[in-house]
Amino acid sequence: MEPKEFIAAQKKAIAEAVGQGKALVALSGGVDSSVAAALCHQALGQALDCLFIDDGLMREGEGAAVKEAFRPLGIKVRVIDESERFFAALKGKPDPEEKRKAFRDTFYQVLGEQVRETKANFLVQGTIAADIKETQAGVKTQHNVLEQIGLDPKSWGLHILEPLKTLYKPEVRQVGRALGLPPAITERMPFPGPGLATRVVGEVTPERVETVRKATAIVEEEIGHLRPFQAFAVLLNDRATGLRDGERDFGQIVAVRAVHSSDALTATPVQAPWEVLARLQERICAEVPGVVKVLYDLTPKPPSTIEYV
Ligand code: XMP
Repeated sequence: MEPKEFIAAQKKAIAEAVGQGKALVALSGGVDSSVAAALCHQALGQALDCLFIDDGLMREGEGAAVKEAFRPLGIKVRVIDESERFFAALKGKPDPEEKRKAFRDTFYQVLGEQVRETKANFLVQGTIAADIKETQAGVKTQHNVLEQIGLDPKSWGLHILEPLKTLYKPEVRQVGRALGLPPAITERMPFPGPGLATRVVGEVTPERVETVRKATAIVEEEIGHLRPFQAFAVLLNDRATGLRDGERDFGQIVAVRAVHSSDALTATPVQAPWEVLARLQERICAEVPGVVKVLYDLTPKPPSTIEYV
């Protein structure tokens, strides 16, 4: 794949497909949807509406960061806060696939409303080749592979555009660079569609997401220089006894996962130096309320997956 040729061919195909219509893209701030949005913006200009749905499950400061990153490209990002709806849908659902379904259903409800309100007739998806492969293999239902999860966009009068579906992650990054996206986006760690809900084992509540969000920011700060493919914190559903101010505290357990990978289909744990691990433990226990234990995950994929849920 030659990025410039890929971009030229896709721009032509997208412009021809959309014609005089209107397209909508839901940006998550992740590499895939960002590259899909930038590519479609070049092809469609003002006929593309870039929407950021704040689902309450994003990393710290994500909405503002996405707006900031797209401004220099002349792309205006519209942010809507729907976090309460997502938390209501996730309430009382500890099961991984139930959580994914609750997320997906809410996501497409919100998106459906936006499609109707904006009268868009094309929906841009950041689906990449690995998403399709893993869904077909039955490893997971990736929320952005519509046909495979039995959603019919035609009932909304919508056509789907998936300009990146033949590419793997490194190629998506190459295309992003060639489109002029900043390294803050193209070199960013992948972030799953259902966001921090994939990093909270058990029930997803605003409080539990806040715990994992704070811990994730520390992990990204402390381990980022080792250039992992992904590095993040996970809130486990168990508790452990700790000591805080001389008192027993049956508190939270956070696992830290950092992996090297090129395409997310396989992954190996980052051999982080002890000092880095020790600093992670110190900061997470000191800065994230309620955490009494920090674990480092040594498991490659397979047998493990990258995320926990
Ligand atoms: P796993 O956990 O299956 O993840 O090893 C492989 C890659 O996919 C990301 N991931 C997701 N991305 N929706 C997404 O858009 C999802 O539901 C989802 N689940 C996992 C994960 O972060 C990793 O890069």
